[in-house]
Amino acid sequence: MKFDKNILAFICLHTSWWNIYPPQDLAIIKTKEDIYSKWKYYLKNDYKEHKRVWLYMHTPFCEAKCIFCSCGSKKILWWNILNSYLEKVSKELEYFSDLFKNIKLNHAYFWWWTPSIYNPQQLELLLSSIREYYDFEKNAQFDFEISPHTITEEKIKILKKYWVSRITIWIQTMTKDSLEFNNRFQTWTEIKNAFSWIRKYNIENINVDLMPWIPWENLKSFLVNLKKIIELWPDMIHLYPFRPSKETLFSKNWYNYTNKDIKNRDLMYELWIKLIEKYWYYWVENDSWWKKDNARNEQEVDKIVNNCSILGFWYPARSYIHKNLMYFTWYDMYKKDEPIYMWIEMKKDDYMARYIISHFRSGFSLDDFYKEFKINFTDYYLKEIDFLEKNNIAYVKNWFLKTNINNVFDKLLFSKIFYTEENIKFLLEKFNYNKNINYIKKFKDTLSASYK
Ligand SMILES: C[S@@+](CC[C@H](N)C(=O)[O-])C[C@H]1O[C@@H](n2cnc3c(N)ncnc32)[C@H](O)[C@@H]1O
Ligand code: SF4
Repeated sequence: MKFDKNILAFICLHTSWWNIYPPQDLAIIKTKEDIYSKWKYYLKNDYKEHKRVWLYMHTPFCEAKCIFCSCGSKKILWWNILNSYLEKVSKELEYFSDLFKNIKLNHAYFWWWTPSIYNPQQLELLLSSIREYYDFEKNAQFDFEISPHTITEEKIKILKKYWVSRITIWIQTMTKDSLEFNNRFQTWTEIKNAFSWIRKYNIENINVDLMPWIPWENLKSFLVNLKKIIELWPDMIHLYPFRPSKETLFSKNWYNYTNKDIKNRDLMYELWIKLIEKYWYYWVENDSWWKKDNARNEQEVDKIVNNCSILGFWYPARSYIHKNLMYFTWYDMYKKDEPIYMWIEMKKDDYMARYIISHFRSGFSLDDFYKEFKINFTDYYLKEIDFLEKNNIAYVKNWFLKTNINNVFDKLLFSKIFYTEENIKFLLEKFNYNKNINYIKKFKDTLSASYK
């Protein structure tokens, strides 16, 4: 069953495109106390060898809902909610903190959806609580993501005070029609201000996220805008070609992303790469295009390379306890409910799948795999290797799994063969697989053909 490409494409369409195993659809409800005891077990046992834990913080509010966005983010309904959200987050930070009192966490990451939405007092409260409850390695990277229209000089100053060393500026597009259509507000002045404040306060790294052929984009202004952004010299650039996935308001409102759009998106992506590389940005494995060596997102790389554990706060942060558990928090922001914790316990097969999937694109040493699991990879995954070789995706040479993968489609599709049969069966039933539908084409259309 798992060697049918149509099935693999169906799974890609129905699971998170971040390629993290196990998919969260398998989770069941558990208590916070259950999670606590799992962390306790890990810290007493596996942590001693592994020693990789980082903190992840989620902010689920946006000023407006962007039409292109595929995240489950919601427009903020009343501003006071931020205070009560932070109050609850603070309680959770405190609850888990005694487990970590003798441990230095590796990194901290403040991501989805718009952490710069807090006012300076709220930001100060959030960051100071984290520093009060948790300790970090001296060279920890604190990664914070901002929207140009919600960031101010005062907030940047606070970020610096609390160790932020890498900032992502979410730009996506600067084309006027596209900004209007997508409900985005940023101006060039705000973007330039953000760059200059970040540099004024000596925050080491700036990354920008941009979206080739976002709805209502136009080729000429897109190229002009990219050139202007390059002239601001961000240290890293991420290109995420628009995917008209079913979660976006774009698709929910029945807008059509035509074949012409798909062609333009591919063309734009390739043109952008050429332009970026002309200005001395070069591709770094496991991340994106960079200009200097420490510009990468350490947490994301650590997740891929070392399967680091993730202590996530809060709705709907995805956490991971190495070799034990994947869990996430669910929460209705506008009711007074406590968060709901959901988890997927991991058996050895799941953990091996997670390891292979996260190392899939770059390949890995079979010796390392053996050391980790005491299993001979070539014996255990005979059929999988055969399938990958037949499709010219990967092969085993000199005791190493090597791949020919150079685009996201192949990476996402073929890594799914390492899902367990049981989980594949569950996903096919849950999302009503129909073998008469061509999911390969559907999935291909959601990605740029050359997308790295
Ligand atoms: C969680 S989103 C946060 C976006 C951010 N809050 C902003 O205002 O731009 C992180 C990244 O996912 C990507 N993303 C979101 N929706 C997408 C879509 N429909 N297609 C491709 N990438 C998408 C964007 O590039 C974005 O930078
Ligand atoms: S793109 Fe960012 S700001 Fe817009 S809805 Fe998504 S998460 Fe919110």
